[in-house]
Amino acid sequence: MPEAHKSLDTSTEMGNGIFITFEGSEGAGKSTQVRLLTEHLRKTGLPVLTLREPGGTELGEEIRTLVRRVDFAEAPCAEAELLLFLASRAQLVREEILPALHNGMVVICDRYCDSSIAYQGAARSLSLEQIGSINAFAIGKCVPDITFLLDLDPLEGLRRIRLRHGSEADDRMERESVAFFEKVRNGYRKLAQVEPARFVILDAHKPVEMVHEKIYDLLCQRFGTTFKNH
Ligand code: TYD
Repeated sequence: MPEAHKSLDTSTEMGNGIFITFEGSEGAGKSTQVRLLTEHLRKTGLPVLTLREPGGTELGEEIRTLVRRVDFAEAPCAEAELLLFLASRAQLVREEILPALHNGMVVICDRYCDSSIAYQGAARSLSLEQIGSINAFAIGKCVPDITFLLDLDPLEGLRRIRLRHGSEADDRMERESVAFFEKVRNGYRKLAQVEPARFVILDAHKPVEMVHEKIYDLLCQRFGTTFKNH
């Protein structure tokens, strides 16, 4: 049995790395932006670790398979779904994110704590307060330095998803209705209003390259010395 990652205390400081997260509804282009930013930063010589949620660890990837499964006779209830995402997150923080931040790396994560609030809170109507407590239990003080919210009309998002996968939805969440993704979008927008210092809202209807340039420019402004010295 491998040793559990108990030793890392999530209540301590996050080190001198930079923690960047990407959020948004399906089809908003998060994964493309994560890839472009990773490639750009690597070219400038910055040490980058790119992760995704759910996933990023052996346990997390198993959980990813579970939450994406479409062939359950009885779909997981919202509470079980939430806890699965949170278990993946707790492991990712201790196994990957905190050690990398302590080593001064730039950590880029495709989805993180805000996804649970938008999807399981705003869209599945679980208590936002309870999700906040469980999130805090899972991540401690490991809060992103900056979060890019790719904001997109849900109809356009679903259109893009269908173009990508055809009529067959790739995972369970993609089978949800437009109304569900409207709630996700509104949930994210409220979060961004509550924490304007952390969130940057980007218009995901714009061309991919334009969005990427904006992201890079904003990072240079915000973390100037780290980024410009490379
Ligand atoms: P994924 O294929 O990674 O979707 P995407 O490319 O849109 O990120 O699957 C992750 C799905 O899990 C996605 O539909 C959002 C959902 N999710 C939650 O509902 N809650 C969470 O806390 C997280 C991390 C993801």
